[in-house]
Amino acid sequence: MPVTFDPVNKVFCLSSAVSSYVMAIDDENRLLHLHWGAQVPSGSLCFHPEDYCPVASFDLPEAVLPYELPTVGRGWYGLPAVSVRNPEGDDLLDLKVVSWKALSGKPTLSGLPSTYTDRPGEVSSLVISLEDSIISLQVDAFYSIFESTGVITRSLVLRNRGSSPLILTALLSASVPFWSSDLDIVHLKGAWARERSVVRQSLGRGNYSISSLRGASGHADNPFLALCEKNADEFSGRVWAVSLVYSGSFLASCSVDNFAHARLGIGLNPSVFSWALSPGESFTSPEAVLCFSDRGLNGMSQALHSLFRNNLCRTPWKNRERPVLINNWEATYFDFDEEKLLSIARKAREIGIELFVLDDGWFGRRNNDNCSLGDWTENRRKLPGGLAALSAKIHALELKFGLWFEPEMVSPDSDLYRSHEDWCLHVTGRSRTQARNQLILDLSRIEVQDYLISALSSVFSSASIDYVKWDMNRNMTEAFSAALPPDRKKETQHRYMLGLYRVLGALTDAFPEILFESCSGGGGRFDPGMLYYMPQTWTSDDTDAAERIRIQYGTSLAYPLASMGAHISAVPNHQTGRTTSLSFRG
Ligand code: GLA
Repeated sequence: MPVTFDPVNKVFCLSSAVSSYVMAIDDENRLLHLHWGAQVPSGSLCFHPEDYCPVASFDLPEAVLPYELPTVGRGWYGLPAVSVRNPEGDDLLDLKVVSWKALSGKPTLSGLPSTYTDRPGEVSSLVISLEDSIISLQVDAFYSIFESTGVITRSLVLRNRGSSPLILTALLSASVPFWSSDLDIVHLKGAWARERSVVRQSLGRGNYSISSLRGASGHADNPFLALCEKNADEFSGRVWAVSLVYSGSFLASCSVDNFAHARLGIGLNPSVFSWALSPGESFTSPEAVLCFSDRGLNGMSQALHSLFRNNLCRTPWKNRERPVLINNWEATYFDFDEEKLLSIARKAREIGIELFVLDDGWFGRRNNDNCSLGDWTENRRKLPGGLAALSAKIHALELKFGLWFEPEMVSPDSDLYRSHEDWCLHVTGRSRTQARNQLILDLSRIEVQDYLISALSSVFSSASIDYVKWDMNRNMTEAFSAALPPDRKKETQHRYMLGLYRVLGALTDAFPEILFESCSGGGGRFDPGMLYYMPQTWTSDDTDAAERIRIQYGTSLAYPLASMGAHISAVPNHQTGRTTSLSFRG
């Protein structure tokens, strides 16, 4: 049985052939963590408080209890997994287990991307409900275990069961204690054109964190953090990794306490998040993925690849062979007309390329990057017959046809901006910070989401479009929606992500045969949240083959090869000036 409960010792055990995750309820009905790692027989572990209390300590026993959902205010001094301010103004939270239920299969998350199963018996789930009876907050902790890989997912649903509003100020989707800190930490660090370098170093004795405040997962840090044994290598040793199915600002951390115990966590970034939870309302956290391997980093990569390919990507394209594409961007930039594009397409056809992608510059008056984002109508000067005629000519060459969009943006010089100046992220009375001459649409607003769904649907239906490159070329500033009241402004970033996911869900549902590829200045939003909707991501704007070896190696630590868009480009390379042979680039 993958999910068991031992009523005598009050121990929950989620087990697969690869791993086990074990929790216990103590005498005060607190939920405690006992084990995450190699498979253990159910019933073999139980909670002995004396195992956790140091012989001599200045602290209360609560300081060292291995809480499954740590909260502050009652003697525990680490990073809280859940923090809620109540009408009294304090954020004391005392969560006690009230009920639990085993489920077959896996529930979906409301409004958020998440892993899924379509095979009976592949996944078993457990939901444990906890409650703080003083403030009437219920927290449902959802756990699922994937039988073949042993991957565990966890998400939380917070429900306000009382009659007073609550303010949610911090929420980690996973927070797991370890009884050692003699470990290495592994993560993916980068910058534009240098995405996802593998960093591995000793955990040390302090607090280690990676994060994004950008409103995107970002080029700098990826929502992936792993601990491994010092001697773990590619094929041996134990590894514990956490990842977040989310594309916005996040925090992942590993802190070491005064007894050299580590705690690994991942979730929303509290610096740019708060949420008013009115009576009767609920809030769902993004899903954390917990992956244990006793076969080194390779075992972890294999399990994450399998999960992301088979149980996260949901498009019919997920396991199809992807077409070889040619993209006109570096060949023409904004300077093209129909004949120039067709001459590239004819040549491409001759050498066996299968898909022609028209990049930036096909819409509005866009001849450089300072106008027209938001005006998604074709430029008839460049394309006299419009997209319909061009796509017909491309299809007549027996090539598929693809198109670039940057839907989340608006240029101040655009018809959209002139008619809806308040639709971008901004703060009244302050200047609007531009990056690449553009502002970000406020996707927390339903009217903006509806506009995008309708504008893009009409382009997708106006011509035969097989592929879409969905770009996003700047990070958030002034991320406080003008449509929200002052006490809800800090909800903007998360509301934006929910809005983006609604738009992506509607479009990918309505156009399931379009192959979507996500891009953000290259690989600035390469994360599991986007992979749910789009099976591949533009790995980097750096197309230099020598640099791509490192970028693609780092990316492969967590992400499947099929998720990486990879290009052979002209030499000397436009980013580095390096000349390499065609066979090396291949
Ligand atoms: C971003 C992308 C590029 C290209 C340009 C177009 O930089 O990463 O591949 O699409 O936008 O403006």
